[in-house]
Amino acid sequence: GARAGEIRTPTVVAHRGASAYAPENTLASIDKAARLGFTWVENDVQRTKDGELVVIHDDSLERTTNVEDVFPGRAPWKVKDFTAAEIARLDAGSWFAPVYAGTRVPTLEQYMRRVEHNHESLVLEIKNPELYPGIEQQILKLLGNEGWLGRGHLGRLVVQSFSADSVRTVHELKPALTTAYLGTPSLSQLHDYARFIDLVNPSYDTISLRYVAAVHAVDGPHGRPLGVFAWTVNDAATARKVDGYKVDGVITNKPDVVRAALGSG
Ligand code: G3P
Ligand code: CA
Repeated sequence: GARAGEIRTPTVVAHRGASAYAPENTLASIDKAARLGFTWVENDVQRTKDGELVVIHDDSLERTTNVEDVFPGRAPWKVKDFTAAEIARLDAGSWFAPVYAGTRVPTLEQYMRRVEHNHESLVLEIKNPELYPGIEQQILKLLGNEGWLGRGHLGRLVVQSFSADSVRTVHELKPALTTAYLGTPSLSQLHDYARFIDLVNPSYDTISLRYVAAVHAVDGPHGRPLGVFAWTVNDAATARKVDGYKVDGVITNKPDVVRAALGSG
């Protein structure tokens, strides 16, 4: 964000960690972001059959693990149909590159401890909340237990979802938390959502200078103008384009490329 007299530079967020360079949504991918000098990372949270919160993007384990080899008879390999112990056996790194063999699907608890250890900040996405009733309360409980809902940590955390209902629930449970809606709401939706979101996080190809200005003109629940973090921007030309739209954040698989394009971190 900008203050008077400062040059405005967007926050760069490493999407699923530095996911162009290490397997997405693993501890390796947030370690890689930290090594590249990035503070902000993004992840995706879902729930196992026995109620453990885990960090993975797809609702199936198929794309990003070796589940087909380990549990061949269990297609379509939905996260919600596997226990935490079963998921802990899977390799979540080999699909990306052999050097990452043995990388695991992290539990949210393991993940939050590594984010803390790395001194990173997090955009936590609640993925497919309709599959996981009560997941908002469960995530907030874990975040509270791990110390992430205290004063020193609230500024390092954003909770986002494509589900407005899920984001509204999070805001109602913990009003001090910064929240984001994933999508490009119309102006009338924006005035409704502004009661429970601080940020609008749209796909980069759905926005314009005018749209970002319209979002900035609305105040969120904490009395500050709504912000905009655009995703997923993986090349220099697109980074410069959305920077020209005056976005507040850029979510990217290649944080180094965005930093080089914008001269920002
Ligand atoms: O953070 C924005 C982005 O992650 C939303 O899309 O599918 O990558 O979770 P997706
Ligand atoms: Ca995501």
